[in-house]
Order: sequence, then C-alpha cells, then structure tokens
Amino acid sequence: MHPVHAAGVLRTKGERDLAIEALLELLGREPYHIDGLNHLVVMLSGPGHEDMARPFRRRIHELRCIGTGMPDHEHGAVIEYLEAAHGVGVTPKRMPMSLVRATFDGLADFYDWKLRTYLHYRAPELVAEAIRSTERGRDHGLDVLDLGCGTGLMGPFLRTVASRLTGVDLSERMLDRARERELYDQLIEADFMVWLEGNRHRYDVVVASDVLCYVGDLSPVMELVRARLGSRGRFVFTVEKSEVEDVSLRLTERYVHHERHIRAMAARHHFDVANFVERVLRTQNGRPVDGYVVTLERPPVAPTSAPPAR
Ligand SMILES: C[S@@+](CC[C@H](N)C(=O)[O-])C[C@H]1O[C@@H](n2cnc3c(N)ncnc32)[C@H](O)[C@@H]1O
Repeated sequence: MHPVHAAGVLRTKGERDLAIEALLELLGREPYHIDGLNHLVVMLSGPGHEDMARPFRRRIHELRCIGTGMPDHEHGAVIEYLEAAHGVGVTPKRMPMSLVRATFDGLADFYDWKLRTYLHYRAPELVAEAIRSTERGRDHGLDVLDLGCGTGLMGPFLRTVASRLTGVDLSERMLDRARERELYDQLIEADFMVWLEGNRHRYDVVVASDVLCYVGDLSPVMELVRARLGSRGRFVFTVEKSEVEDVSLRLTERYVHHERHIRAMAARHHFDVANFVERVLRTQNGRPVDGYVVTLERPPVAPTSAPPAR
C-alpha cells in the first residue's frame, strides 16, 4: 500500500502518530511528494504542532511557486505572504504582484463561472448600485477607471454611465477575457499602484470591485486615487469586513478591513464618505462573506474668487 493511503487508513483507525511516521518516512525519501506534504500538514494542523508543520507547509508553497512558473527570485516574497496568511511572520503590505498574476492567470478561463455560479459573487451589482445611488445627476458621459478590472464583470454596468471606460489589471489572461467583451475603450496590463503614480489623467469615477482585498494598508491607494479624481469624483470599492483588527490577512490569502480603518484613511486623504453600506459580497465554503461597499467623494474644489472690482 502506498504510504499516503497507509497513513489515511492509520488515521481513520485513530493511529495518528503512526500515520505521521509513515508520511515522514515517505517525505524523507521524496521531500516534495505533494500528496504526502498535504496530508502531513493537515494532520499537523491544530495547536501544538505548528513548529513541526511549518517546514512542510513551506515546501507546499515552494511547489506552488514552481508550478506557476514565476521566476525563482520571486518565490521568497510569495512564501512570506502565504506564511503570513497562516499567521506566521510579518504581514506584507499587499499581495506580491507575481502571486496576483499567477493566481488570476490560472483562474481566468473559469473565473466568471466560478465567481458567479459557484460563489454567488455580486460585488459588480453592488458597486453599480452604489454609483447610481450617489450619482446626483451625474449618470452618463463619465470618464470611468476600473482598477483590477479582471475579466470585465463590471463592464456591462459601467458602460451604461461611461463615455470612456478604462480597465487596468496585472493578469494578462484576465485582460484577454475582458477584451472579448468589447466594452472597454482601453485595457492596460499593469500594477495599478505603479500605473496610477505615473498617470496625470483625471477621472469622474474610479472603481475597485473585489480588488482591495489584495491590499493591506489602504492609505497609499487612497492617496493615488484621490490625485486622479476630478472635483466631486467618486471612488467606489468593496472590501471584506474585519470584525476586530484594522487590517488582517486571512487564511483565504485575502485581507479584511475594519470600518474604522477605512473611515480613518478616507479622512486622512480628505475624502467625503458619500455612502458606506455593509453587504454580503459572495459566499465562501457555502458561508456568506460580509463586506462593505464604500463610495468616497473628492470634495468640490472651491472656485477661485474673482479679483476685486476696481
Ligand atoms: C477578484 S478579481 C476582481 C475582478 C473584477 N474587478 C471583478 O469584480 O470581477 C481581482 C482582480 O484584481 C487584479 N489585481 C489585484 N491586484 C492588482 C494590482 N495591484 N494591479 C492590477 N491588478 C490587480 C487581479 O489580477 C484580478 O484580476
């Protein structure tokens, strides 16, 4: 019997220590046996075994990096991020670009199906509703920027209000799907943080639907977006809800944000909060994922006073 199967049988018979021994023996011979690693890490999960589990979990992360074909020098940062999602080490400021790219390039072909049918994803509708509810007569002819546009699920909603629609995303294959929709005037492959920094254009609406969950501290993105909004321009985004910490990286490999942090960052960057609602964004393992749909508005620029009459 293969050691992985033997370990499974031993485990069901309550012989956990013997099962672990069988897997350790296998991994002694074949250190990167993925089934062996996965089974062992599951068996070692739970209090008391974290130190023993860690090196094996790191090997799983290494295999994941190798499998995506990302350059070797990027593995370290990705492994650090994945370990931080398990509560180990310092939490990085955001998901490494190579991991974003690898994750979504790999997901692109079935992203729409998985999100819509399987995970009941509804952030695009919620963002569209938020744009509508704060439009105050600004309901068409808008210059709209879709950050992390992905396959373009926001496209049909944004196209109805946009005279110009631009999408930015890191994943080439997600952008391929977005291109097929023929809804965007421009699709740009870039890290939106870097791209925003080098951009001088001003938008009426900037959208980030299910994207800021890959960013920890929201301050830099708010600063960059504010600089790219015109007077009374709106930044509409979703984030997953944190109950306690300002920002925390979860096992889902996504950050969650507390309302307090979002409001504090909005105030720091001189945004007005036009709308802030709590909604179920989608499901995960059959459970609702609570989040916020937030609309921030850049306050009107005060008109420069006319020179005094002579
Ligand atoms: C969960 S998908 C959401 C896609 C789309 N907004 C939607 O609502 O379906 C997240 C997208 O954000 C992109 N993304 C994440 N971080 C990014 C970054 N720093 N720069 C550009 N795109 C990013 C990913 O490549 C991915 O396509």
